[in-house]
Amino acid sequence: MENEMNGDIFVVKAHDNGVQVIGMTRGQDTRFHHTEKLGKGEVLIAQFTEHTSAVKIRGKATVITKHGVIEADS
Ligand code: TRP
Repeated sequence: MENEMNGDIFVVKAHDNGVQVIGMTRGQDTRFHHTEKLGKGEVLIAQFTEHTSAVKIRGKATVITKHGVIEADS
């Protein structure tokens, strides 16, 4: 990604305590680099960046992206 400020933005709203938003690295080596834990009702606004190519959501949450709204419940 040339300019990390151009990465898509997504929103995660947690419906339970302990929802995890896990950032995964960009490039050859795909691994977790950050785990953010959300409390019930907490909202995280985040972006795909030079360092983050994928995101894994664990727990009950609403995920809003430009592609649509997804209910996650793992
Ligand atoms: N330092 C990370 C980055 O710039 C912060 C981050 C951005 C992040 N988006 C994320 C962490 C999504 C977890 C999930 O890429």
